[in-house]
Amino acid sequence: MQTSKRIEMLPPYLFVEINRKIAEKKAKGEKVITLAIGDPDIPTPEHIIERLSQAAHDPANHRYPETDGLPQFRRAIAEWYERRFGVSLEPDKEVLPLIGSKEGIGHIALCFIDPGDIALVPDPSYPVYPVGTMFAGGECYFMPLVEEKGFLPDLEDIPSPVADQAKLLWINYPNNPTAAVADLDFFERVVHFARKHDIAICHDGPYSEVSFDGYRPPSFMQVPGAKEVGVEFHSLSKSYNMTGWRVGMAVGNARIIEALMRVKSNLDSGIPQAIQYAAIEALLGPQDCIDEHNAIYQRRRDRLMETLNRIGLRAKPPQASLYIWVRIPEGYDSLGFASELLEKAGVVVTPGVGYGRYGEGYIRLSLTTPDDQLEEGLACLSAWHSSRQSLP
Ligand SMILES: Cc1ncc(COP(=O)(O)O)c(C=O)c1O
Repeated sequence: MQTSKRIEMLPPYLFVEINRKIAEKKAKGEKVITLAIGDPDIPTPEHIIERLSQAAHDPANHRYPETDGLPQFRRAIAEWYERRFGVSLEPDKEVLPLIGSKEGIGHIALCFIDPGDIALVPDPSYPVYPVGTMFAGGECYFMPLVEEKGFLPDLEDIPSPVADQAKLLWINYPNNPTAAVADLDFFERVVHFARKHDIAICHDGPYSEVSFDGYRPPSFMQVPGAKEVGVEFHSLSKSYNMTGWRVGMAVGNARIIEALMRVKSNLDSGIPQAIQYAAIEALLGPQDCIDEHNAIYQRRRDRLMETLNRIGLRAKPPQASLYIWVRIPEGYDSLGFASELLEKAGVVVTPGVGYGRYGEGYIRLSLTTPDDQLEEGLACLSAWHSSRQSLP
């Protein structure tokens, strides 16, 4: 049996060694605290679960769903966008429910990329953008996201022949892993760039509801012309602590939405309907949970920042997202530093290089560790720091 070249081309799984060390420590009965995963620890709000439970008892929801979702779910998404961002969407043409946004993000390359075509992909980034491109037979041109430029891609830096040839441009704000945010001015420049080079834009915005200190991240769809050039991926995962239910959406340009729907209708049969009813409840029901969750994340951010500052690790306090992007000390690479923290402090962090070459020099910490474990983790980091200082 021989697997495809596609499978062989997948990047090596960087965390093998770290996972092996975690297993080894656990087997010895040693405690390991993880600050690595961006998966909300707080449960889905009760009213949403209640709606799911009711809908699960209705036999009408036991049958195949439609790939493009319930019309009332598409309408709920449009209503939510109008209320949250002041963006009008045509529910039957400009909205497509997804089985978690990851599903659509992975599949959209099939709508634009033929073998040899180019996608412009940020580095570091969520790994599904480059992998989706590769599965479609395309090539990535990586746009460095560097601290000096606020972790925004420098569109002027992309050589014109590359930009003219590219079919797709990925952006993601609030950003994973750097936690950077973008303003409407940047999104306007992206629309201008898309028009100039005839490129489709995919903005990935699952963290727009996770924000701090009163900051409210904008939607790409808010800028004039966005709907002519692109789509936005969104998700209920982080906004409503629904990562386990797998429900998200793509909104925007009707031609792109239709193309994605054609791909999906050949591959999947949509989101289970009971989950769509729960998602409608999330989008249109009480929204207090968002501020409540953000208050928890903000408190954790502040606790982490206090410790990082005290032990001399440099990071900018994030205004949004579930992450802190931390510069590592001189003399380490990100995998080596993550291994040191695991071995010596019993704390798991994500090495930046896992998100691309330009992620080297950083680690990513997440705000989704329960408070008591976070406090333990912070104590372990402080103890590690003191022991390091007392070395001869
Ligand atoms: C930037 C980004 N996009 C998309 C996703 C996928 O989210 P979901 O598939 O749960 O909607 C994630 C998940 O961590 C993410 O970080």
